This record gives sequence, C-alpha cells and structure tokens, in this order.
Amino acid sequence: MLLEDGARVESDPVLRPAARWWRRVTEEAFGLDLVPAAPGRGPGNCVRFDLAPDLPAGGYRIEVRPAERRPEAGGSVRVRAADLAGAHAAAQTLRQLAGPDAYRRSGTRPLVLPVVHIEDRPRFEWRGVLLDVARHFLPKHDVLRFIDLAAAHRLNVLQLHLTDDQGWRVQIHRYPELTRTGAWRRESTVGTWRTGSRDGRPHGGFYTQDDLREIVGYARDRGITVVPEIDVPGHVEAAVAAYPELGTRKDRSAVRTTWGISQDVLDPSEGSLAFFRHVLDEVLDVFDTPWIALGGDEVPPTLWRESPSIVERARSLGLADVAQLHGWFVARLAEHVSAAGRRAVVWDEAVSPMLPRDVIVTSWRGYAQGAAALAAGYDVVMAPEQAVYLDHRAGEHPAEPIPVGFLRTVEDVYAFEPLPAALTPASANLAGVPGRLLGTQAQVWTEHLDSARRVDYATFPRLAAFAEVAWSPRADRTQGSAASKEFLDRLERRHLPRLDAYGVEYRPLAGPHPWQTRPGVEGYPRDLAAETAVGGWAGIGGWREDGGVENLPTEEPAPADPERDA
Ligand code: ACM
Repeated sequence: MLLEDGARVESDPVLRPAARWWRRVTEEAFGLDLVPAAPGRGPGNCVRFDLAPDLPAGGYRIEVRPAERRPEAGGSVRVRAADLAGAHAAAQTLRQLAGPDAYRRSGTRPLVLPVVHIEDRPRFEWRGVLLDVARHFLPKHDVLRFIDLAAAHRLNVLQLHLTDDQGWRVQIHRYPELTRTGAWRRESTVGTWRTGSRDGRPHGGFYTQDDLREIVGYARDRGITVVPEIDVPGHVEAAVAAYPELGTRKDRSAVRTTWGISQDVLDPSEGSLAFFRHVLDEVLDVFDTPWIALGGDEVPPTLWRESPSIVERARSLGLADVAQLHGWFVARLAEHVSAAGRRAVVWDEAVSPMLPRDVIVTSWRGYAQGAAALAAGYDVVMAPEQAVYLDHRAGEHPAEPIPVGFLRTVEDVYAFEPLPAALTPASANLAGVPGRLLGTQAQVWTEHLDSARRVDYATFPRLAAFAEVAWSPRADRTQGSAASKEFLDRLERRHLPRLDAYGVEYRPLAGPHPWQTRPGVEGYPRDLAAETAVGGWAGIGGWREDGGVENLPTEEPAPADPERDA
C-alpha cells in the first residue's frame, strides 16, 4: 500500500502522542506531508489510531488495507491499541514495516507498507534498559538518541544511573557542590583498574534540571518512563567529595578516578538521611515518574565496623549487626519515596526485613535473589549480570575491545529467560507468592564505554535480542533452536539494515571493525561456567564480607584534589 502526500493521520485524543510521533518521523524519512485530523473523516488514504479496550494492556492490532474500488482514494492503515503504550508499540511496528529508509532523517523514496494484519502484546510490563551516565557522562543529545533507539526496540523503561563514585550528574539546587565538585574527576582509569593505567584527562558533565525535564518528556513522547537512580549508601564518593560530612571518614577526597567497589560509603547518620531526602525531593519534582531508584548495591560495612559511633548507632537502633545499617538506610529513604506517592526501586542487596513491601527489587547478582524477593512478596525486575549486562564482552574475537565480564553473545542474550523453570512461581517453593515478576532489564554500565560510539558497540545488536525476550511470549530460545536461528537470520537480513540506516555503530556479528578495537587496553574477562559452578542461581558477584571481594581495588584512595582545595 502506498501512502502519499496529504494522507490523513487520525487519532483518538488519548493516542495522539503516538500518532504524532509516527507522523513526524515518517514525514522526515519519506519527505511527505501528512495531515493530522480528527477521527472519522471518511475512508481511504488514511492512517487511523483508535482505542480498543478489548485488547490486553500494552497490546495493539494493525491492519494495512490496499486501495479498494477507487485507487485514487488510497488504502488505509488502522491501528487499534489497548492504551497509549500499545499505540506507541504499534507506531514502532509501522515504522519497521516501512523498511530501513524509515530510520533515516531525510529521503524522497515512496512510502510503501505491506498489506498485513498484526496482533501483538508484550509479555512484560517492565522492559527496561539501564544507562550508566555516571562512570562516563553521556551528553544530553546522546541520551535522547539512546531513548529513540530503546523505543525502536519497544522497551518502555530507561533507568538512568545518575550518581556513582566517579561522578554526580544531576543538578540539585539545594546542594550546588554536588555538580560543582562532584560532576568531574581529574582523570579516568583506562581498562581494568588492576593495571593502574590512567589517562591524565579530566572527565565530567552533568544535566541541569531543565535538561532532565526535557529527557523525561522526550522519553514519555516515545512511550518510555525514565527511572532516575540516586545510588546510596554505597557508590557515593562523588557526593562525599562535594560534602565530606556525608562520608564515614569525614575527610576531603577527590572524586574517584578508578573503577571497582569503594569502601567509602555514607555515614548512615540523621544528617545523611536529611541530605538525601532533600536530594530526592528535587528528583521527585523533576521526574514525574512512578518509580525512583535508590541503588543500594555493593555496600562494604568495613569503615562502619571501625567507627565506634556508627557501631553504637546501629546498637541504639536495635540492629543486630552494624552491616544492617545498609538495609535500614535504604528502607528509610524508600519510605520517603512512598510518602511522595511513588515506589522505590532497589538492587537486590538492599532487601531486608525493614524494606517496605511496595519497593521494587531489581535482581542483578543472579536469579536466586529475585526469586527470593518474589517469595517474600516483592515485585521484581530480573536483571542478572550472568545474562543481561551489555558492558560484558560480546564475543571472543581476539580484538574484542576491553573485554570484561562474562561472554555474552547475541545468541546468549536471545537465550535469556528472566524466570528459569527451576524458579518459576508454579514450582513448589514459590506457589502462591504475592510478589509479581514485573519484567526484565538490560544494563549498560560505562566504566569502559567512554563515548556514544562505545555505547553503541556494547549495546547493539544485543539489545535487539534482549527486546525480543522482554516482549515476546516465553519460548525455547536456546542456541541452535529454531527460534534462535530464525532470530539471527531476521536480525541480519532485516534489523541490522535498520540500525545501519539509523547510524548505529553496532558490533558486527563477525567481530569489531578495526576502528572499534582498543589495542593495548586491558579488560578483565570472567568465566561464567566457573562462577556458576560456585554460586549457582545466586552467582558470586557483588561485595561479600566473607572475603570474596572480587572487585575491590586494594590501592589507597585518590589524594585530595589540589585544584578544588585551592
Ligand atoms: C550492580 O551491578 N552493582 C548493580
């Protein structure tokens, strides 16, 4: 069916953002002028978005009809969607149907849609991707582009990891030092921290609140909810560099320049709580989203144990061990988020008997933590590092750039099942649990991704494989299965040309282009089979007090920054 200049785009008012988005990208890509119109202006030469409450949440139907009796009347495209989310998904499908040219920003080729009838619905309501803009700042323009690409894969959650040891990226009016001091570091580690190799080059950046409001609105217009993450009480060295009274040591240090897990965690004091409640109040104002992530991962209590006043504080709060201040601190902030009518999201280490039941738990160290949280009644997002950490190496090519983590090929990611059969609620151990598996999330951590080009390489095309898992019904997608072969074929023939047209510098299936390699920069590959043999469904990642500090640098903290102290 040929869609021509002057075709009407009609929409139910509820679905208008999706219709408007589709009209704009289509006008650009095909050099067309489409005409927005109220519904019901007659047949033919028309694309129409209607609500269909009979469809399941997030679902849609698309019917493309050819021109019938009067060719001059044109054909028609009818989209029926359960809700706005369904219309966004349908709009992305319409773009896919139009071919790779639909991913360009300018063109004059005719827009031809195949005659189809499609009915589709998502498996999960949370189809997320995390983007770490703390380890390496990604300029706003590139974040918006990342949102476009996530939406193109029908993902609907972007967790923005805004704060970490190596940088604070969100403007907070009440505490200007967070960005004045905390948004930049003197230099960065190149490759694994284990080699001690530094680049001697300042790095930084932050988003103003106006930038973040723009990002939130831009994402909303594409069916994506942005979940801001303010990580506490670990991963806070940038905040502590800005406001040393927040830290356990209380002394001035610079923003961290190495990767790994830091011992410099917050002093879990009333002062720190008040500080982060104020931070969250501004975050809650900027991000009008139902979910606010509080981090809660990787919190070594080593310095707490050495502090008599913190040990005494734990005792006076009735905690059996000082390490429980971790769960206590996160729970207090989760209550603050709840009081504002939102839900907190935490990494799995933050689960404790003190954690309110409305909190959403993201299971990253493995699958078992998510299953345990479900059994305890929490809603869960499955994001195990064994499966969906896209910073982990995508292949065994000898020139793989900075190969870290587990080997995760496109086929591995496609084979990911968020809730393996051994852990499903139908099995005896979890029968009747009230917690819900909300969905799944892929992670793009950026210690080793210092530019949008590197982010492209790590993210694509594996995010396409992940998106199919998050959207499509449960199936056997193991390597060599019929589904896996069909996917790889479709990826190569149909989807990579779309990414090419969009200008995505993805990792070619055969390995990196020469300009995508990083000769001489050392990674730190991990062995999935060996770790699984030890840790099973729980893995062995994260921080463990029993001495398994896999990631912890042994070096001294960075010296004070003379420029800032001046
Ligand atoms: C994490 O990877 N530390 C959540």
